[in-house]
Amino acid sequence: MSIQTHKALILEAKQGKLLVGNRCTPSPQSGQLLVKVFATSLNPLDWKIHKHGRIIEEFPAVLGSAIAGEVEEVGEGVTTFVKGERVQIPANVSFEEAATIPVALTAAYVGLYNDKPFGAGLASPLVGEANRGKYSGKPLVVLGGGSSVGEYGIQLAKLSGFSPIIVTASSKHTEHLHYLGATAVIDRNESFSNIIAKVKSLTSKPIDIVYDAVSTPDTQQMAHDLLAPSGTFLTVGELGITKADDRNHVRVIGVLQFPKNTVLLRGLYTHVTQALEEGSLKPNRFEVLPGGLEAIIDGLDRMEKNQVSGVKLVALPWGA
Ligand SMILES: NC(=O)c1ccc[n+]([C@@H]2O[C@H](COP(=O)([O-])OP(=O)(O)OC[C@H]3O[C@@H](n4cnc5c(N)ncnc54)[C@H](OP(=O)(O)O)[C@@H]3O)[C@@H](O)[C@H]2O)c1
Repeated sequence: MSIQTHKALILEAKQGKLLVGNRCTPSPQSGQLLVKVFATSLNPLDWKIHKHGRIIEEFPAVLGSAIAGEVEEVGEGVTTFVKGERVQIPANVSFEEAATIPVALTAAYVGLYNDKPFGAGLASPLVGEANRGKYSGKPLVVLGGGSSVGEYGIQLAKLSGFSPIIVTASSKHTEHLHYLGATAVIDRNESFSNIIAKVKSLTSKPIDIVYDAVSTPDTQQMAHDLLAPSGTFLTVGELGITKADDRNHVRVIGVLQFPKNTVLLRGLYTHVTQALEEGSLKPNRFEVLPGGLEAIIDGLDRMEKNQVSGVKLVALPWGA
């Protein structure tokens, strides 16, 4: 029997080199699928794992968790997928667009809809039609609306009915963020006090939810200062400010395998597929890195240097 292999970008050791090499292709076990990856998106966590040696302890390892592809082989007992099928991607969405979704959407979704203390405990508009528009007339703020997580946060907030949806972002993203559902876009380069004043001029109601998709000391403080006394502050990074009152501080853990996310995320992607099909959820804009897997190395470097703006970087393992 010949051993099947496939190409992968391999991290040889903790904080070691990334090199394209061959890996043994696994056979799907009972209940599993083997997926042939056609596109993968780069996420900030990938360069952080590489540079700081976080999370992964077994090497050689393959980074990345945002993939899109086709079923290559089905394991025993799998009846709902067939070889050649695009994995839960509707016809109007490309592999490149689909690859932008898993990590960033999960972070936005878990923050808003997981139960407290892991999220804001809102009712999901994706799994229940009746929840669409449920929070109509309530304001919500997204700091970093132009980030991938922020873009999905804006769209989910729109489906939930929040209004106004006030976001901070580079002003060049204003038109696109209005298209996704933002009511007002405040230039992120304004001073801290100007941003606070502008947000407060846009709503007189208490702000119960602030989603901080940037998570610097400044944005965390801003979120805290904007929030109503019993509101929920969601942040994508480590919590850096001390909780001094009843404001609910949540560090979002947008990881599929995190046990506290299992109930919320099981079956979610059937609803995501429907929302993509009907156009109520739009994937991030993307830039394809020319050069296949090798190009990921430079892409990670660009992300680390903050040289990526308004697009998700996508690599095509079979070459672009
Ligand atoms: N906790 C989790 O589960 C989880 C999951 C996914 C991501 N994350 C984290 O979430 C963060 C965002 O990830 P992402 O994939 O969305 O990143 P991304 O798409 O690369 O977006 C980063 C963008 O944020 C914008 N930005 C930077 N500083 C800002 C500020 N002060 N105010 C407003 N916008 C600002 C910049 O946009 P412009 O330059 O265009 O203005 C930058 O391009 C990263 O730190 C990532 O590690 C956490």
